Amino acid sequence: MAKAWGGRFHQATDPRIEAFTESISFDKRLYAVDIRGSMAHATMLAHAGLITNLERDRICDHLDQIGEEIAAGQFTFRTDLEDIHMHIENALITRIGDVGRKLHTGRSRNDQVSTDLKLYTRDAIDDLDKLLVEIQQAFVARCEQDADVVLPGYTHLQRAQPVLAAHYWLAYVEKFQRDRERLADCRKRLNVCPLGAAALAGTTLPIDRQLTAKLLGFDSVAANSLDVSSDRDFLIEFVFCLSLAAAHLSTWAEEWIIWFTTEFNFLKLPDAYTTGSSIMPQKRNPDVLELIRGRTARVMATVPQLLILIKSLPMAYNRDLQEDKLAMFSAYDALRACLELTPSIVAGAELKRDRIESRLEDGFLDATALMEYLIKKGVPMRTGHETVGKLVAHCESRQCRLADLSLEDLKTACSLIEEDVRGILGARNAMKALQSYGSGGEESVAARLAEWKQRLS
Ligand code: ARG
Repeated sequence: MAKAWGGRFHQATDPRIEAFTESISFDKRLYAVDIRGSMAHATMLAHAGLITNLERDRICDHLDQIGEEIAAGQFTFRTDLEDIHMHIENALITRIGDVGRKLHTGRSRNDQVSTDLKLYTRDAIDDLDKLLVEIQQAFVARCEQDADVVLPGYTHLQRAQPVLAAHYWLAYVEKFQRDRERLADCRKRLNVCPLGAAALAGTTLPIDRQLTAKLLGFDSVAANSLDVSSDRDFLIEFVFCLSLAAAHLSTWAEEWIIWFTTEFNFLKLPDAYTTGSSIMPQKRNPDVLELIRGRTARVMATVPQLLILIKSLPMAYNRDLQEDKLAMFSAYDALRACLELTPSIVAGAELKRDRIESRLEDGFLDATALMEYLIKKGVPMRTGHETVGKLVAHCESRQCRLADLSLEDLKTACSLIEEDVRGILGARNAMKALQSYGSGGEESVAARLAEWKQRLS
C-alpha cells in the first residue's frame, strides 16, 4: 500500500516502524470529530472555488457513510495507515477516487490533528460539566436529608468547631463550582480555530478560515499559523482542570474513608458500594472510595506528562505530539468514571446520626464560642483566649465539659460571665451562635442552600 506521503520514497516502510509509529490504536476515538472537521473543510473549499459543489456533496456523503461504518464497528483499521486521519482520507479515495484526493487541499495533518483535538476536548468539557452539576445536585439533596445534623468540624483532623452537616455538603458544591468555572474558562481559550494553519506556514491557496471556524463553532481564528499548528496549551490547561476536580473528589473520598472506620463510625455505606475481604469474614471495605482516591493519580500524572512532552520541542509540529492524546484520554476517562459514580454514592450513604450526636460534646467544640462570648462582654480577644484555654485545661483535669462547669467556676475564671453563657455552651448552641456570612450556622447555611437550589435548578 503506497503511503499518502510516499512520492519521494524508494523503499516501503519497515513493518516494525509502522507498528512503532502508529497512533490509530488510540486516535480512532477522534473519528467523529475528524469527520466533522473534514466536512467543514470541504464546505469551505467549495465556497472558495477550490472544489465544485458537486464534489463537496460527494465528499460529505461519503464521509457520512464512513462515519456510520466506524460507529457500527464495520470499519477495518490497519497499522500501515498510521492514524485516523489517513484512514478516513484513504477510505474516501478508495470510494470516490480523484474527488477524494482533493479533500486535503489547503490543510495539513498538523492543523487537522489540532482541530480534532480541540473539538474533542470541547465536547469533553461539556460532558464533564453535566456530570459536575449532577454531583452538586447530589450534595444539595443531602442538605435536606441531613437538615438537623450537626457535625464536628476539624482542622488538623482535630475537633475544632461545630457546623451544620449541610455546611459541609455545600463546601463541596463550592469546590465543584470552581471546577466548572475553570473548565468554562479553559473552553474559551481553547475555542480558537487552527484549521487552515496547514503544516506551519499557512497556504498559498485562497482558503476562507473564518468560514471553517464558524462552521465548527469556534469563536475566532488563530492568528499565527506557526503557533497554533503545534500549540497544546489547551490540553495542558484541560488536564490541570481535571486534576483539580480529581483532587476535590479525592479529598471527599478520603474523608468518607475515615468516617467509615470503626474509630469514627460516622457513616453507613450501602452494601452495593462496598466490598468484602477474601480472608477476614467481618470486613466491609470502602474500595470504591479508595479507587476514586487512587485514580486521581492517573489524572494528575497527565499534567507533568504533557508538560514534559512539550518542554523541549522546537517550533512547530514534532512527532512527539502524537503522544498528547494518550495523556488527554487517560485523564478524561479516569475522571469521568469517578464523576459518574459519585452522585449515587453521595445519595446512597447515610450519616449515623446517633453515633455522631453521642460524641458531639467531646473535644470542646464550644470553646471558641465561649471565647467570643467573652469578647462580646468586652474582654480583649487574647485575654479571652487565655481564659478559655485555662478553663479547658481545668475541664480536662476534672474530665468534664465546659457546660458541666458551675456558674461559680466560670465566674472564677472571668467575673463577666453570667447565666446567659448557657445559651452558647454545648456544641449545638455553639453552632447556632455562628452568625457571620458564609458561616456554618443555621441562618447562613439556609441562605446559601436556597441560593444553590436556585442556581442548580
Ligand atoms: N499521527 C500524527 C499525530 O497524531 C499525525 C500528525 C502527523 N503529522 C506529521 N507531520 N507527521 O500527531
